[in-house]
Amino acid sequence: MKKYSKKKLPLDKTRSLLEPGPIVLVSSQWKDDRSIMTMGWHAMMGYEAIGCYIWDANFSHNLIKKSKQCVINLPEKHLLETAIAIGNTTGADIDKFAEFGLTAEKGRKVQAPLIKECYANFECEVIDTRLVNQFNFFVLQVVAAQSAISPKYPETFHYRGSGVFMVSGENIDRSKFFTPEMLDG
Ligand SMILES: Cc1cc2nc3c(=O)[nH]c(=O)nc-3n(C[C@H](O)[C@H](O)[C@H](O)COP(=O)(O)O)c2cc1C
Repeated sequence: MKKYSKKKLPLDKTRSLLEPGPIVLVSSQWKDDRSIMTMGWHAMMGYEAIGCYIWDANFSHNLIKKSKQCVINLPEKHLLETAIAIGNTTGADIDKFAEFGLTAEKGRKVQAPLIKECYANFECEVIDTRLVNQFNFFVLQVVAAQSAISPKYPETFHYRGSGVFMVSGENIDRSKFFTPEMLDG
């Protein structure tokens, strides 16, 4: 398994990794129960808040609702098969850390475990639940973040539906066409 050395990431840099819409792994814990779910339906809401759809049939839904915390972990391509397996099993039946050979790391700000094998980890608190009953939509605030130092751009994967994924590729720098204030973050 790939090993990373990571450093603290300023919270307002979260968007640089999540704005492209990668598949993420959400880890959560409540009392003795923990789980990981695969997630594609998430969106930046400003620099440090993230909205996400967490289906109420998922075991993770209640863990996050009760603990009001979770960790968003950013996997690279080498974890694609693991992410599919995580997304096709439930933490109600198995411990996904043990089952899929992932290492649970202690966070700085939340009780939910971080996944060591991921490129970046965003510790989050639930700050708004007003759309949970109607839309399964949680609003999270990032309270601590860390990221690998290299590669500069992680090889993330993105879901197109029907079992088909896209892997992040070419970078095109067009910063010279941006006004300075639009280059923040
Ligand atoms: C590629 C992929 C993307 C997914 N995206 C989401 C999502 O955005 N929201 C969601 O609620 N479930 C999503 N799922 C389904 C959950 O990951 C799945 O139901 C998982 O097994 C829940 O685990 P749990 O019961 O331990 O919480 C996705 C699954 C896959 C494979």
